[in-house]
Amino acid sequence: MNYTDRKPRILVSRAIFPDVLAQLEAVFEVEHNQADAVWSPRELTERLQGKDGALTTGGERISAELLQACPGLKICANMAVGFNNFDVPAMTAAGVQGTNAPDVLTETTADFGFALMMATARRVAESEHFLRAGQWTRWSYDMFCGSDIHGATLGILGMGRIGQAIARRGFHGFGMPVIYHNRSRLDPATEATCGARYVDKDTLLTQADHLVLVVPYSAASHHAIGAAELARMKPTATLTNIARGGIVDDAALAAALRNRQIAAAGLDVFEGEPQVHPDLLTVPNVVLTPHIASATLATRRAMAQLAADNLLRFFGDGSVLTPVNTLA
Ligand code: GLV
Repeated sequence: MNYTDRKPRILVSRAIFPDVLAQLEAVFEVEHNQADAVWSPRELTERLQGKDGALTTGGERISAELLQACPGLKICANMAVGFNNFDVPAMTAAGVQGTNAPDVLTETTADFGFALMMATARRVAESEHFLRAGQWTRWSYDMFCGSDIHGATLGILGMGRIGQAIARRGFHGFGMPVIYHNRSRLDPATEATCGARYVDKDTLLTQADHLVLVVPYSAASHHAIGAAELARMKPTATLTNIARGGIVDDAALAAALRNRQIAAAGLDVFEGEPQVHPDLLTVPNVVLTPHIASATLATRRAMAQLAADNLLRFFGDGSVLTPVNTLA
């Protein structure tokens, strides 16, 4: 397509920072969603008719069916590091470039992972609910005793950029021995920076005092933590998931929390979110947050800017900054 005759047509599928939107509107013909409606797959498909590109968030599924119905689409720029909402093989087959938003959110997301792990281990949410409910009438020696972070063994499943950033926090800041499991082992220099030791998955489950999940979601990681894995963990252990819903079997986790098979969990992501498994809402020893690990204004702005820059480059010189697929 030659864009000398007309501007490229872009769909921005959710509300974004107005100044980032303005950059797109200066160059493209943009249909935006500043009202921030959540479109059904059908409505998304309809709105993508005749569009050349899209800025999506992790919530919009770019499926083979959608791609078939939108033959003009050439690029989807995700404002998220995770891109399990993309059917990448179907995009590649259809000649659609995908991009994501890595790096700019690494430290912010690691901060949150650490915060959620600490809140979980030290029972911050549970004790706050108790206080707000007017139940705090006296001191007692064992009231809301949790478990220590400093010196405890930090386990990390998925040792990419965010996993490494969490490991560095634990090792350098809190004197935590760090163990990890990953598809591939890190090089020795990176392991040393993170103070991390590679172990098999069962060792990770059985030895971690605080297990943090930072693995991308795929068919291979679906229910990587289910009833069998929870049964291998220490009864004093905590589990924190800042990766994706579906990596944990939420029903099995709720049962394990209720039976005190593990001590507590911190969850920022859920199977079928924004729905939350009803059993998780009734167990006290879980901290629940609405998928906000990357949510600081500075980081969300950087993510939006990176997605916009991918679109601007693509329709400028044909390049992108952060591809998730390679087109022939
Ligand atoms: C958030 O979950 C992201 O993938 O950026």
